Amino acid sequence: MSEKTAVAFAPGLEGVVATRTRLSSVDGAAGRLVIAGFSVEELAGQASFEETLYLLWNDALPDREQLSVLGRDLAARRALPKVAAEVLEAAAGWVPLMDALRMSSGTLGLGNGDDRDDALRLVAAFPTIVAAYWRLSQGYELVEPDPKLSHAANYLYMLSGEVPSTERVRALETYLNTVCDHGMNASTFAARVIVSTRSDLVSAVVGAVGALKGPLHGGAPGPALDVVFEIGEAGSAEEYLRARLECGERLMGFGHRVYKVRDPRADVLASAAKRLYATDADRDLYRLALEVEKTALRLLEEYKPGRNLDTNVEFYTALLLYGLGLPTELFTPTFAVGRVAGWTAHCFEQRELDRLIRPQSEYVGAEDRTWAPLEER
Ligand code: COA
Repeated sequence: MSEKTAVAFAPGLEGVVATRTRLSSVDGAAGRLVIAGFSVEELAGQASFEETLYLLWNDALPDREQLSVLGRDLAARRALPKVAAEVLEAAAGWVPLMDALRMSSGTLGLGNGDDRDDALRLVAAFPTIVAAYWRLSQGYELVEPDPKLSHAANYLYMLSGEVPSTERVRALETYLNTVCDHGMNASTFAARVIVSTRSDLVSAVVGAVGALKGPLHGGAPGPALDVVFEIGEAGSAEEYLRARLECGERLMGFGHRVYKVRDPRADVLASAAKRLYATDADRDLYRLALEVEKTALRLLEEYKPGRNLDTNVEFYTALLLYGLGLPTELFTPTFAVGRVAGWTAHCFEQRELDRLIRPQSEYVGAEDRTWAPLEER
């Protein structure tokens, strides 16, 4: 029997409220993002990644003791199990980084049914997997995690082999906190659907990585930065951008489906980028990017009046991560290093709710067919 639907078909589930969450609230009309009670502006630049993780998992900020326990628990799970490392070695050179992350993180579950242990393993090992795979594919020696360094510092350390400055760690933590959770986005939804079947957290997060990998979700910070490189100097920005708009192309790093005013994450990352580039990154690139942004906003208003197209999170993600020395191939995997905090927190929420997610479909196929034997078709 086909399912009979009493509700209207919404192909992208637009307007459907699929759960209640205390993790984050996205107000697209007001340009406001709240993460577990804090505005993103309040939280991102002050919290360490470990504090944000604790907040998402426990709905409260940790005291010193709780923070140090979490730090120790993560440190104990940062080195990769043998099988996870072997997957990376076998994949090196022929598999894109997001696929390597999906394959290797799939080996982290022990099937022991301990959600907290699985969540700790996933969060702790993501930076190790990304850094290890990056170095393997570059032909560099692997850098083991350092138990004295924080989560974000370890990531930069395992990538470059150098202990990062406080400023660089702060910049990365601000980024990871900014992207740690964002309402019922596609990868978070995928994770919740998997956990809703009473499956395990590793399976849920592997599914989420698969969803994040898609170009409509994982974002386009790479192309946004490529535009800045292609423009090359401030004087060429207008001519270049105008030509793109004349051909009906979209400018990468601008516009958003939900935010109809400025994406609040763009502002947080803009301030972080300003601080980073004031110390040790390529200042000429930073000045050029600001010029490109200014020109793009002016031209978008001219070509698309009233559409409220503003700078989105991808533009400043690109600038910030590039300033941290990360090549564009690492942009989406680094997004995953931050977002795994939100995925695991949503898994805990869904576990508590314990309700199978099972929407309906509307049947539009043929009715009343009669069977024809093979020789008569
Ligand atoms: N550059 C130029 N024009 C743009 C634009 C952009 N970045 N984003 C939207 N527009 C235009 C559309 O062409 C459309 O014009 P029209 O009314 O003349 O047809 C109008 O603005 C509304 O666009 P719409 O398709 O309704 O917006 P959307 O909500 O579906 O799109 C995005 C949201 C993010 C897909 C879109 O803004 C985009 O493609 N941005 C560039 C890619 C990007 O930065 N992605 C990362 C997002 S975080």
